[in-house]
Amino acid sequence: MSMRAAVSFAAMLAASVATFGVPAFAADEPISPIEPAKVTNPGLVELGKKLYFDPRLSKSGFISCNSCHNLSMGGTDNLKTSIGHNWQQGPINSPTVLNSSLNVAQFWDGRALTLQEQAGGPIANPGEMGSTHALAVEVLRSIPEYQKEFGEVFGETKITIEEVTKAIAAFEETLVTPNSRFDQWLKGDKKALTTVELEGYELFKDSGCTACHNGSAVGGNTFQKMGVVEPYKTNNPAEGRIAVTKEEADRFNFKVPTLRNVALTYPYFHDGEAATLSDAVDVMGRIQLGKKFSPDENGKIVAFLKTLTGDQPSFALPILPPSTDKTPKPHPFD
Ligand code: HEC
Ligand code: HEC
Repeated sequence: MSMRAAVSFAAMLAASVATFGVPAFAADEPISPIEPAKVTNPGLVELGKKLYFDPRLSKSGFISCNSCHNLSMGGTDNLKTSIGHNWQQGPINSPTVLNSSLNVAQFWDGRALTLQEQAGGPIANPGEMGSTHALAVEVLRSIPEYQKEFGEVFGETKITIEEVTKAIAAFEETLVTPNSRFDQWLKGDKKALTTVELEGYELFKDSGCTACHNGSAVGGNTFQKMGVVEPYKTNNPAEGRIAVTKEEADRFNFKVPTLRNVALTYPYFHDGEAATLSDAVDVMGRIQLGKKFSPDENGKIVAFLKTLTGDQPSFALPILPPSTDKTPKPHPFD
């Protein structure tokens, strides 16, 4: 019933666009709504979903993409830095996979250009899933149901790592989160936000946060210095974008994280050192903009940020085909 009402409201807005030639959402706002994913190849997405949840792509047989990008927890692990193969301490905070298709590039330093390029990384990273592409493919080839499904999606195939990463990327493209209360407000429902949340949004804009956090992902579209006005102090050795470009000017430039679903993706920053949204907003105000927010202002901005939580991906948990006698055995402890 409420869905129906929402749809007809959207239709009304669309009609007003046709009549008056203005877009259906406030075009002068620095943030635009997230649109639902359009699935063009459902078979590919279904296969990618299975692979995303399949821990057999790791050497231990225990770690899947979902271990560190848990779709029940905003697409993150909610840890300062991730736990990899053999309980290794990861070097950096795990960003959310939600809306990652909207990023200009992948990783904090942008070293992977596409989701497909990114997806090959963790499988063979000794500190993450600890496998090799050859071993991961051998595991999949040993399972007749996977052979059949890859065949249906890709035609005649022996199963390749390119197909694996292509399917995972296609699944990730569906992990968008439309319909947050903020997007409902952008699309014309002026009752979707409270006065305090709106005041927070005005502060967010007027203070200059939208210089870096803008667009449909409220970030994700540029690399910016962490510590514009004041240096950021951390023990984390990551140097940011300079690792990719080798340009001194890119030292300590990081991809601006998306603020979509930011209420779910704690702790914050590449080192995971800000435990709460309130801490993160305080640090941002001081070191990016030279502003010290009062507790009241901080609370309002946090209230606004919490309106950016959208509809979380929702689907039946994929049931994975069982291993066979020929499937290489997992190695959880070496
Ligand atoms: C052991 C934990 C771990 C596992 C397992 C893991 N990731 Fe990640 N992932 C991370 C961390 C940490 C980063 C950030 C690394 C960096 O920026 O240097 C990351 C980054 C990403 C990003 C980039 C997001 C952004 O905003 O830049 C995507 C997308 C992603 N991972 C998808 C995957 C997929 C798909 C898999 C499975 C094939 C996977 N991850 C497995 C920890 C993990
Ligand atoms: C000059 C660009 C810039 C401005 C201005 C800016 N940010 Fe950021 N923001 C960043 C970058 C870059 C990061 C990631 C830094 C890191 O982790 O090293 C970030 C991270 C964050 C995070 C943590 C997100 C996460 O998932 O880790 C929050 C929350 C945030 N910003 C809110 C704000 C708010 C609120 C303002 C305004 C008071 C603001 N930012 C102003 C660039 C900016």
